[in-house]
Amino acid sequence: MEELKQLREEIDECDKALVEIFLKRLSLVDQVLEVKCKYGQSILDPEREREILEKAKANAEKNGHVPEAQDFLRQILKISRKYQSRKLFPYNIVLTGFMGAGKTAVGCELARILEMGYQDCDALIEQEAGMTISEIFQKYGEGHFRELEKDMIQKLSQLSNTIIICGGGAVMNPENVKALKNNGILVFLKATPENIYERIRNDGNRPVLKGNMNIDSITELYQKRMPTYFETADIIIDANGSSLECISGEIINRLYQIKNPLFSRELRCLAGN
Ligand code: S3P
Repeated sequence: MEELKQLREEIDECDKALVEIFLKRLSLVDQVLEVKCKYGQSILDPEREREILEKAKANAEKNGHVPEAQDFLRQILKISRKYQSRKLFPYNIVLTGFMGAGKTAVGCELARILEMGYQDCDALIEQEAGMTISEIFQKYGEGHFRELEKDMIQKLSQLSNTIIICGGGAVMNPENVKALKNNGILVFLKATPENIYERIRNDGNRPVLKGNMNIDSITELYQKRMPTYFETADIIIDANGSSLECISGEIINRLYQIKNPLFSRELRCLAGN
């Protein structure tokens, strides 16, 4: 088995070289991040990722291992994104807004792009209670649901570097807002009642609107809540019509402009303060 031993030694050498080169790449990623922050340039660059994968394809073509080489680089790109997210967003990104504004879809997209953890407050409440939100409302009333929501938000606020999706009524309770802001930036996804209606009209799990699933009732409740959504938001994003990728890209750029652990001083200078 001398042969196997020798092959394994060669693999160990390869791994050593891979780790070394990977760490060098990571330090270059660090420098790219710094330059982008310094010049306020967009952090996301899907075009560049595509270019990297194309180059991997060209480089591997002669050896016939294109899929493996591309998979390898895809993993590296994921690790790089996760690494950058941890540096840029050591806090929670909290999505707020009315039902149907797209919090869940945008949250999933952000989690995918940033390789960040993702927690959906309502889904966790349902999981713990072993029943749907509608069933909780029906069986125990809205007051009980709000208590469960408050407890869940207290728990979620202990996290960091996580995307937190809140139910549409969560920020109406100042205690929830206080907990969420402790280590989070609140991003309000603003949508029109018409868009909201289109998204939720066939959804039976919106007990707050039960029996009133129409644009007038949505508008009435939305108007009541609107001042709180605005007051509690650190960032307001128009969630009407744009693609998930566009909305997520805008959130990421706005976030690192207002709270950037790497370059807050330079950014203040750029802003003239
Ligand atoms: C609510 C919104 C729901 C859920 C519950 C109450 C509300 O979440 O928390 O039905 O008061 O607006 P979504 O905003 O995710 O639908």
